[in-house]
Amino acid sequence: MNKPTIGILYDRIRWEEKELASRLESRGALAQMIDAKMQVLPLDSSRFDSIPELVLGRCVSYYRGLNIASTFEAHGIRIINSSEVLELCGNKLLTSQILSKNGIATPKTVVAFSSESAMQAIETIGFPCVMKPIVGSWGRQVVPIRDRETAEALIEMREQQADSMQTIFYIQEMIKRPPRDIRCIAVGDDVVTSVYRYAADDSWKTNVALGGRTEPCRLTSELEDIVLRAARAVGGGILGVDVMEREGEYVVHEVNGTVEFKGAQTSTDLSIADRMVEYALSLEQISAEKAATSAQA
Ligand SMILES: Nc1ncnc2c1ncn2[C@@H]1O[C@H](COP(=O)(O)OP(=O)(O)O)[C@@H](O)[C@H]1O
Ligand SMILES: [Mg+2]
Repeated sequence: MNKPTIGILYDRIRWEEKELASRLESRGALAQMIDAKMQVLPLDSSRFDSIPELVLGRCVSYYRGLNIASTFEAHGIRIINSSEVLELCGNKLLTSQILSKNGIATPKTVVAFSSESAMQAIETIGFPCVMKPIVGSWGRQVVPIRDRETAEALIEMREQQADSMQTIFYIQEMIKRPPRDIRCIAVGDDVVTSVYRYAADDSWKTNVALGGRTEPCRLTSELEDIVLRAARAVGGGILGVDVMEREGEYVVHEVNGTVEFKGAQTSTDLSIADRMVEYALSLEQISAEKAATSAQA
């Protein structure tokens, strides 16, 4: 029997991608590395023959990852996560909408679409609040706003930018949380890891990319429940669900569609990559069985 092959779509090979490839091989499968930057895809072909049936999407660039995912899907290739999930997770406004719609606790958020109305949005939330770009990661341009002067300066700065995304003002209540949040990794119907992320001494943000450190966090049944509900709400797959603690309750502020897990891996004994690979192989088997049944019919 042929070994199953899973594609790993990347634009930069980080520790995570190497770990996924090595775990695939340990499970007797083949990892096919696909450089997203080098793909030239004729849209009129019925199938991109060199691409496996199932691909793990690992692009760092949101727009590249999203658009290549939808191109693969249009040609019958299954990609984890799907373009739909990537779009919902990559845009904080869409994520907030879907979380609220599904009754999942999330910070109160107001959006305004011009510098003229931005201050009104900030006043609706009140100080302190947080301003974020609707597309972004690693904490970039996520700004705590504690007073009106700072708010005015930020609105003015954004107004000067040529990028039209800068005049979309996504304003959120600042959650009174401890100097940490919780990163959970959901794979299919399981939460495989939950870790605290403590902000670096000189930072308010907890992102590992900004020097945040991780520590093990017990997965309570309440935490598991909210994480799985958030993961299902965006469409499921392999997701990084970020949760803050507010006076004994959990609040989901972000769902990451292409999850980095090097930081989380240092606080757990189980191999996160192996759980992802196990999930991908189970989906690959379903796809292969389906293909075999339709070939017989
Ligand atoms: N509403 C909030 N209240 C308190 N802290 C927040 C809030 N939103 C974000 N943060 C902090 O800022 C960090 C980055 O914000 P996040 O929304 O996760 O953006 P990014 O996609 O850039 O990681 C979070 O991990 C958290 O530590
Ligand atoms: Mg984040």
